[in-house]
Amino acid sequence: MSDTEIRKGLDGVVADTTAISKVNPETNSLLYRGYPVQELAERCSFEEVAWLLWHSELPTPDELAGLQETERGNRALSDDVRDLIDKTPKTTHPMDVVRTAVSLVGAQDPVADDASEEASLAKSVRLLAQIPALVAYDQRRRRGEDLVPPRPELGYAENFLHMTFGEVPAPVVVDAFRVSLILYAEHSFNASTFTARVITSTMADLYSAVVGAVGALKGPLHGGANEAVMNDLEEIGSADRAEDWLDEALANKRKIMGFGHRVYKKGDSRVPTMKSALDSLVEHYDRRDLLDLYSALEEAMASRKNILPNLDYPSGPAYHLMGFDTATFTPLFVASRVVGWTAHVMEQAGDNALIRPLSEYNGPDERHLS
Ligand code: SDX
Repeated sequence: MSDTEIRKGLDGVVADTTAISKVNPETNSLLYRGYPVQELAERCSFEEVAWLLWHSELPTPDELAGLQETERGNRALSDDVRDLIDKTPKTTHPMDVVRTAVSLVGAQDPVADDASEEASLAKSVRLLAQIPALVAYDQRRRRGEDLVPPRPELGYAENFLHMTFGEVPAPVVVDAFRVSLILYAEHSFNASTFTARVITSTMADLYSAVVGAVGALKGPLHGGANEAVMNDLEEIGSADRAEDWLDEALANKRKIMGFGHRVYKKGDSRVPTMKSALDSLVEHYDRRDLLDLYSALEEAMASRKNILPNLDYPSGPAYHLMGFDTATFTPLFVASRVVGWTAHVMEQAGDNALIRPLSEYNGPDERHLS
């Protein structure tokens, strides 16, 4: 063995600089282009935050109107994408449908390989508009429901909910959804974003980077955790069972979904904002039982392991209360994080170096065929 230091999982490795977001685990803070995410979640639309992440500054009224016009004009699925979704077995995980459909959206773009910033921005807005349409349609067709066409007079969050449920829910629900989208939009060099940057570093196209990022997000150690949280809460069933369930799960060396974080060790900066959105939903839907269960598991985890929730912990039950199918939760994360991914694709492409680390060989010594 050489004395090279290997950081398993690149833990603690600073791989590059970024001007897009700053995660500070010491102060439990997260800044998007310098703005605290809590302020953005309180005051901005998701479209404004998307513009900020892509362009470094919040949009002027004219810029926002331009973005809205383009996003609203790109919402309808092509017949081919719709057919593709229809042909996918209903047993397929919705994340696999998103990965496949995004790939076709890219394949249908005649300028998919144009890597100019202008073309990359156009592709990013196209994906921003298309992903809600395909996620909403996929959930509907699984329930035996027809496609709901987009409504161009609605903002992004309202329209997403309208296409999924056939109506715009109460403002408190729309607001909780908008907040979740803003909180999920960007988080520095997380695994899926880093995947997108690796793919971009080979000078592959933006769609390839996004398809790869969707794959990376699917796993339960990353984005798949919001779905897994809800499955765990349903398995536990009620608050009085949380401690016993946790003790057994920990004894079986299970990872408790929605808890822990590679960067934050004193709590995830986004959790208080999402928890307060969850509280509003609990009140709106009169589901105190779910909140009791949520709190019981959180308290048990703190007492047994001193490990705190990450954003997926409040998001899972929040999406459940909004009425999404559990398997659709991670695709919702995709719809939001595509903004962060594409911002990173543009940043990586603008100052590119092929990402190609070294490995230390630990296989057999040189040998020869006899
Ligand atoms: C996201 O990177 C990002 O920014 C990601 C994200 C984003 O916005 O992009 O924030 C989104 O991916 C959130 C994380 C979602 N994943 C989960 O909720 C899955 C459950 N959590 C974990 O498995 C874990 O906490 C990770 C994967 C999130 C972080 O893992 P690390 O940094 O590799 O830490 P680790 O697994 O080595 O854990 C260190 C210790 C271990 O104990 P010891 O072996 O040292 O005794 O903490 C324990 C772990 O067993 N631990 C847990 C635990 N999380 C950590 N034990 C049980 N359940 C957990 N959830």
